[in-house]
Amino acid sequence: MTTDPTRQTLEALGARSEAEILAQFAAVRRRFDEEVARRANDDAANIAVMRNAWIGRNAGAITHITDNWLKPASPEAKRIVGKALNELKAHVEHTLEELRARAEAAAESGDATRGGVDLSLPGVRRPLGTRHPLRQTLEELERIFLSIGFSVVEGPEIETPYYNFEALNIPEHHPARDTMDTFYLSLPATAGKPKGSPELLLRTHTSPMQIHTMERQQPPVRIIVPGRVYRRDNPDSTHSFAFHQIEGLAVDTDITFCEFKGTCEYFVREFLGPKTRTRLRPSYFPFTEPSAEVDASCFACDGRGCRICKHAGWIELFGAGMVDPAVYGFVNYDAKRLSGFAFGMGVERMAMMRYGINDIQLFYQNDVRFLRQFE
Ligand code: FA5
Repeated sequence: MTTDPTRQTLEALGARSEAEILAQFAAVRRRFDEEVARRANDDAANIAVMRNAWIGRNAGAITHITDNWLKPASPEAKRIVGKALNELKAHVEHTLEELRARAEAAAESGDATRGGVDLSLPGVRRPLGTRHPLRQTLEELERIFLSIGFSVVEGPEIETPYYNFEALNIPEHHPARDTMDTFYLSLPATAGKPKGSPELLLRTHTSPMQIHTMERQQPPVRIIVPGRVYRRDNPDSTHSFAFHQIEGLAVDTDITFCEFKGTCEYFVREFLGPKTRTRLRPSYFPFTEPSAEVDASCFACDGRGCRICKHAGWIELFGAGMVDPAVYGFVNYDAKRLSGFAFGMGVERMAMMRYGINDIQLFYQNDVRFLRQFE
């Protein structure tokens, strides 16, 4: 036997007087209101189930009341039951509609009270990446030379000894090779290296691109060559086995030592500030004659002497010089008609000096605490 009163007649429920009939309706309404309170946070799908249980055409509670309470009622009772049923039906329909609308609105806005996303909370901050300090330094160096008519070219990191040494006037057994020992590649014949062809090595400087460029192009030449180079150097705070250089080469019919010196001074002022002074110190490179080390007055103490410049007042910046006429012989340039200058600088060392970094290894460790300082 069912305990659901809407499945029984009023007669069976013992409700005959108006008060008894209205008490039955009040009980049903109370049950409905309690269910509404329980389902206040239900989603739209659950509300649809409840709606079917109450006003579904075939098996809803309102249909049962119509069939079991209203239809069998006596004509006098029908008036009371009909009026109470209409009131109950209006209340149920109105309340269910409100519940449905609230559930749908909550689903759309992701209302926090329904366990969704609270749009009023502060957003999640995604950390933005920045350019590596070496990349920033490279771009600054490129900007300076582009502004005075140089163009940027790049070349291979794998070279033959001819381009890395011989064509730069560094024959085999020349002592200059000692400071530029490097990694030699033993490639199997299947890797595209014909038997008997020259050895391959990782370039020790960007200078081979001087030769490649002059082989390909007639003067005027004004290029800079950024790129990675390799040496058999043990890592310490100022050395790495792989680092970056920027090469520079200018060759034309009327380039004198004055142009060379003027270009160095312009670069130093642009890179380190307008008050910085430049000094050329005699040096030696097999592919430049005369050769010089280009020094700048210390940016930290303005030349008075401090810890950064090791109390010299000057900081060594890069190697340079007028192109040695012997080099023109390797590229079929007319050494009597042409002249030019070249320079090569270590990008890491320039960045270290500029930002006051005391350990070159920091560039390669990718520690965000270090990198974040260059945002
Ligand atoms: C050269 O490599 C010449 N090719 C430069 C040059 C070009 C001279 C054109 C004249 C004309 P050097 O061996 O001094 O020169 O290296 C140039 C710079 O590379 C150095 O001043 C230094 O800043 C950097 N460097 C050299 N070895 C290392 C290393 N192991 N780690 C980091 N930087 C290095």
